[in-house]
Amino acid sequence: MLNIVFVNADGSKVTAQAEPGKRLLEVAQAAGMPLEGTCEGQMACSTCHVIVAADWFDRLPPASMDEEDMLDLAAGVCRTSRLSCQIALTPDLDGLEVRIPGVSRDMQIG
Ligand code: FES
Repeated sequence: MLNIVFVNADGSKVTAQAEPGKRLLEVAQAAGMPLEGTCEGQMACSTCHVIVAADWFDRLPPASMDEEDMLDLAAGVCRTSRLSCQIALTPDLDGLEVRIPGVSRDMQIG
């Protein structure tokens, strides 16, 4: 089992257990994270957008061109943004930390 750490928009952390081979999106949803994943991994939405901790970002396989294009449309994208439906968990990702972007309502409040 792998430990995956999710950081909520308010900074609170949730550690979830995941089996290798699962998609990060599935694990996030099972842990109750508010990721819609509307297209279920077809790279046709960006509602599974997460922000990967900087020291983990370089350890993930790079995003495809299609993923990059879809990320361009996501709200609150930053350098280490990824689509969680495109991240397959492997044993070396034990301890992976990702942040769940705040909804736009929160960003307006500041
Ligand atoms: S679930 Fe739609 S792009 Fe990931």
